[in-house]
Amino acid sequence: MDETARLLEVVRLGHPALRSTAEAVPEDWFGSGRLVDLGRAMVRTMIEEQGVGLAAPQVAEDLRLFTYWVPESDEHQEIAPTILVNPEVRATGDEIEEGWEGCLSIPGLRGLVPRPSRVKVKARTVEGESVSLTADGFHARVIQHENDHLDGVVFLDRMTSTHSLAFEPEWERYVLGEE
Ligand code: NI
Repeated sequence: MDETARLLEVVRLGHPALRSTAEAVPEDWFGSGRLVDLGRAMVRTMIEEQGVGLAAPQVAEDLRLFTYWVPESDEHQEIAPTILVNPEVRATGDEIEEGWEGCLSIPGLRGLVPRPSRVKVKARTVEGESVSLTADGFHARVIQHENDHLDGVVFLDRMTSTHSLAFEPEWERYVLGEE
């Protein structure tokens, strides 16, 4: 981990930054110290807070960028921390799948959220290079969760029922324990 990067404060639900639409990163910021430094700080903060994603509004920055990583699983090889700036995320296909989500801005809770299974993404790196990628499964889920933060949307808004909502220790005991 890059311990020279700054550690940022993650804001929690109730902070207005989580409920506003973030602004596109201006063209002349790409490659700037300001944007590169923010990206590094967001990656460090995500890792320290043991999250798999962090969007700029979660650190009270009114900008369209997020970072995420995907741990190795049966479904995926590990994807190292990635930063996407000014992303455009589009679902491909009709398939929807439910999966468990949590959020560093809504600490301690987990809930089942339906999301499109596959997405296509166009974005920029902090240096301004164009990126396009396709993602499925958990990778697609993380991207959609983080992209939602740029529009003031949190995973609770995407739940079709609050029935599955659980505190983490109970979720680990009764949901993970049953799997
Ligand atoms: Ni979140």
